[in-house]
Amino acid sequence: MPAFSAAELRTAVHDNLRNLGLDVLEVVNLRLMFDVHGPAEGSLEAPLTALAELQQQGLVRHIGLSNATRQQIVEGRRIARIVCVQNQYNLAQRGDDALIDELAAAGIAYVPFFPLGGFSPLQSDVLTRVAGELGATPMQVAQAWLLQRAPNILLIPGTSSLAHLQENLAAAHLVLPAQALAALETIGAAA
Ligand SMILES: NC(=O)c1ccc[n+]([C@@H]2O[C@H](COP(=O)([O-])OP(=O)(O)OC[C@H]3O[C@@H](n4cnc5c(N)ncnc54)[C@H](OP(=O)(O)O)[C@@H]3O)[C@@H](O)[C@H]2O)c1
Repeated sequence: MPAFSAAELRTAVHDNLRNLGLDVLEVVNLRLMFDVHGPAEGSLEAPLTALAELQQQGLVRHIGLSNATRQQIVEGRRIARIVCVQNQYNLAQRGDDALIDELAAAGIAYVPFFPLGGFSPLQSDVLTRVAGELGATPMQVAQAWLLQRAPNILLIPGTSSLAHLQENLAAAHLVLPAQALAALETIGAAA
């Protein structure tokens, strides 16, 4: 279970500091789990206030939210300065499209989790075709698309493979032309 009570959050932050050998954690996301399947409404006042206290004590530099609804982000911003939001989003899962643009306007970073589809990696004929035309891999195109989608998107794709890591780093330099973007747009629309 993710930490949610004030005591659990304090323990988790101190555990992280000790395990990482740090005096301060650069950013801590409060992970909201009112529903295991995705963002769901519920007040974050108590846990976020606890996290903000840890920030005031100098143990946490920045605070983010994960699995958050728009309403929770609004509530959270009244309690603490929110620097990032980490929600599920990728070429096929476009539920946060409007939210991403709102966060960009507010200067808040958006960190998509499962950027490559997570446990069921993205698979699409369109993606494969576009990648082939560009001489890239489908996963590189999926990442380039995210980076091109909005200026506030930060990517942390997970990999256990050095070859994939190198491929993923190279994706940062891949520029998708308008025609490719239009084709990729159909993936989210069909999902
Ligand atoms: N806040 C939350 O609630 C939450 C929930 C889930 C995840 N996360 C975070 O989100 C981040 C990403 O999650 P994730 O790693 O589970 O999902 P992901 O990045 O969408 O997918 C990772 C999968 O893609 C494969 N992959 C990576 N690069 C590839 C490449 N170039 N070609 C082919 N396959 C490739 C990986 O396999 P290989 O190992 O074989 O490369 C792995 O199976 C992590 O930092 C995670 O901690 C947060």
